[in-house]
Amino acid sequence: MCGIMGYVGPRPAVNVLVGGLRRLEYRGYDSAGIALGTTDGIHLVKRAGPLRVLSEELEQNPPPPAAIGIGHTRWTTHGGVSDRNAHPHLDCREQIAVVHNGIIENASELRLELESRGHELRSETDSELVAHLLEEVEGDLLHRLQVVAKRCEGAYALLAFDLAEGLHMCAVRRTSPIAIGFNEAEVFVASGAIALAPWLERCIYLDDGEIADLRPGRADVFRLADLAPIEKAFHEISVSGDLPDAGRHRHFYMKELYEQPSAWRSVMQGRLDDSGNVDLADTGLTHEALRAVQRLLFLAMGSSLHASQMAVERLQQFAQIPAEAILASEFRDTRTFLEPGTLAVAVSQSGETIDTLAALRHARDLGATVLGLVNAPSSTIARESDFVFDLRAGTEISVASTKAFTTQAVALELLVSALAAAHGRVDTTGRLAALRAAPAIAEDFLMEFRLPEDLIARCAAAPGVIFLGRGQDLSLAREGSLKLKELSYIWSEAFAAGELKHGPLALVDSRVPVIVCATDQKHAPKLRNSLAEASARGAYGVSVGADLHATIHLGLPMHDSLAAYLLGALPLQLLAVSVAEARGCSIDQPRNLAKSVTVE
Ligand code: F6R
Repeated sequence: MCGIMGYVGPRPAVNVLVGGLRRLEYRGYDSAGIALGTTDGIHLVKRAGPLRVLSEELEQNPPPPAAIGIGHTRWTTHGGVSDRNAHPHLDCREQIAVVHNGIIENASELRLELESRGHELRSETDSELVAHLLEEVEGDLLHRLQVVAKRCEGAYALLAFDLAEGLHMCAVRRTSPIAIGFNEAEVFVASGAIALAPWLERCIYLDDGEIADLRPGRADVFRLADLAPIEKAFHEISVSGDLPDAGRHRHFYMKELYEQPSAWRSVMQGRLDDSGNVDLADTGLTHEALRAVQRLLFLAMGSSLHASQMAVERLQQFAQIPAEAILASEFRDTRTFLEPGTLAVAVSQSGETIDTLAALRHARDLGATVLGLVNAPSSTIARESDFVFDLRAGTEISVASTKAFTTQAVALELLVSALAAAHGRVDTTGRLAALRAAPAIAEDFLMEFRLPEDLIARCAAAPGVIFLGRGQDLSLAREGSLKLKELSYIWSEAFAAGELKHGPLALVDSRVPVIVCATDQKHAPKLRNSLAEASARGAYGVSVGADLHATIHLGLPMHDSLAAYLLGALPLQLLAVSVAEARGCSIDQPRNLAKSVTVE
């Protein structure tokens, strides 16, 4: 989603802005721009397309020196992709520059009002309105932004400067993230700490309903409602200052796919001992806290939801604790009460997904205790949770998740085991031995495994692909289908195998591959029947895990249900990227998608 970057200080602002935006590129965007405060006015450069287009323009026509500037990568919401709609936006007098992340919900009313008062609007965006609203209010920028933010409904982050106020800018947060850092002579602002890493070791995060007054060497934070000052805690920036690099891999997706075994080791480190005991003390989940859990409610989106669905299966089987996984975006509208003793688990790689964050807040309001399972321990979801389970999978840059998904499955298995042990339900030792062995076996598997060329070609040419599964394999089928559609843009869908005869079978013909996930051996006989039904209608059958007598069988080197699930994800991830490459798709940044979904 949109990336915000701001800088005030002695370095050439243009370099800091472009450097920071480059580090935010992975979030997904379709245009980029910068506004520099110079002695001759605001120097504005905006271009549709990748950041490269903007950088080339800036190299060919170097901008004048500036000690203050703001930059932006835009992921389109209001108005098409164009230079004009790219941020930053200026007011009528070209004195004020604004960048915005999020959606202003009352934009239509505000636009009509501004037009009726004679403002000349140059774009179709909701964001530009903020610059014109700021133009109308009296006072210093902090007060003006406070007034304007109160008039704008929705979820957003804003960053603005006014040439008349010199080396001074202000930022406000209503849901969309803002990180701020400074040293004696400079101040930096960005949508994520990753963009600040080359220059700073610590930062503060604005919380919802906070506004910041930023000058070189300081950041003063206030409550948006009444400008009461707020003391902020500093957080370490744990990512490297070097530009993320895919190394020997073709792209980040492949790099992250191959990093999975080491990510699994890392999430187990210090939490699973050689005897198979799980200790989640670092998350705050003590024996007493685990004993207090009567039911679990997983709140997540996309791949994080699929990992959660897997955990629900395992919880019912091994811990006999009631659990459900709900699409976070549906939760707020459908639930009005929760049972006592509910632990709500917000599962999110980024820790910033707005649907998951909103669901977490709703669950807390309904009385739940909240566990945040995130790959970013300083993220908003982590900061708002009672307990934090750090995934430690390392930064995931590719928009399509690989290592975060399987590492979530490992983390959730540790949670299942800890709950089962605390509730005295089952001895989990044997199962966890297989989990400990999985990284080494996955490494060998990844070295040796090759997808059949015919499978790639069949999928690349198919009008659609069907994935089937039962029990835990239904969540794997959903993940396989999501990966394929995200990367290759091929229409695909996952069904519970038992559902096939109740409608989806009508979609099957000889052009449609049917991929059956069978990592849990106990479902193999029924899955074999489902595949036979599809094959009898001409389908090109594929099985992953148990041998179902398919045209293509992708066997796995482990049969333990959890280890096989983790290993089974690998061929599906490889299939998605191979088909996407065969079709010439962009791998790390699929069309229309963003990494961190911060608008509803
Ligand atoms: C799929 C994918 C998305 C995310 C979803 C949730 O490959 O990456 O579906 O899983 O947007 O994101 P997080 O986990 O950051 O909350």
